[in-house]
Amino acid sequence: MLAVMSEKGIALVTGANKGIGYEVAAGLGALGWSVGVGARDERRGTEAVAKLRSGGADAFLVPLDVTDDAAVEGAVRLVRERAGRLDVLVNNAGTAGGWPEDPSTLDLGTVRRLVETNVIGVIRVTNAMLPLLRRSDHPRIVNQSSHVASLTLQTTPGVDLGGVSGAYAPTKTHLNAVTIQYAKELQGTGVLVNGACPGYVATDLNGFSGTQTPQEGARIAVRLATLPDDGPTGRLFDEEGEVPW
Ligand SMILES: NC(=O)c1ccc[n+]([C@@H]2O[C@H](COP(=O)([O-])OP(=O)(O)OC[C@H]3O[C@@H](n4cnc5c(N)ncnc54)[C@H](OP(=O)(O)O)[C@@H]3O)[C@@H](O)[C@H]2O)c1
Repeated sequence: MLAVMSEKGIALVTGANKGIGYEVAAGLGALGWSVGVGARDERRGTEAVAKLRSGGADAFLVPLDVTDDAAVEGAVRLVRERAGRLDVLVNNAGTAGGWPEDPSTLDLGTVRRLVETNVIGVIRVTNAMLPLLRRSDHPRIVNQSSHVASLTLQTTPGVDLGGVSGAYAPTKTHLNAVTIQYAKELQGTGVLVNGACPGYVATDLNGFSGTQTPQEGARIAVRLATLPDDGPTGRLFDEEGEVPW
């Protein structure tokens, strides 16, 4: 299993007001990290921060819509003023278009919204936060991916990834490809960049049909966020180990 780092720092989790992201923030908070709770809706974010703080976490609100340049710049300012650096970025915010997603009947507006959030949003936030991450002694980036994104699993006979997904799954495959390219560019800089597969988790995203709890789904992202300096980069993991791209 993946080793973990014991040093604590400051983390930002996007889309952390509910679901898996909330539990990633709770998990890092329980380990003693200071956690920025990224939330595009201030009320929902404030409620999540209050809940995390009442559980003992050092949580603070980061208003952040990942599709909005100005909001992302505001988040950079907030983290810079608070800590002067960022140790961990968990790109968790994501959205789906509603099932089924047969490619032949896709609504193009939905496809654009998913790409804008699940792919471009990650690039926007990552690039904006990278100067602060480069100031960390142990910078880590975790991109919330999915088993459904794996081209290997998609094309392996007998593997059941649920129904046809013409919009959501391809955005996560795109995200995987982006994860690999960041890892290549940042090789040797100390920034470790990996993808996490939470499993099939009961959240709003799937109408709470998932079979795992958000706490269970959050575990792999927390592990990848706290990798030691000799940990992997440019790879994809779930709780069981490495997942093929
Ligand atoms: N659930 C699963 O089985 C599963 C499996 C594999 C991967 N994932 C991935 O795990 C991540 C979390 O999903 P979840 O299942 O926890 O779903 P969720 O409960 O619906 O949470 C999604 C989070 O992303 C936020 N978000 C959506 N669009 C955003 C935007 N433009 N800017 C900022 N935040 C935005 C949501 O905010 P609002 O509350 O404002 O909508 C919410 O906080 C996603 O990337 C998802 O693709 C989930």
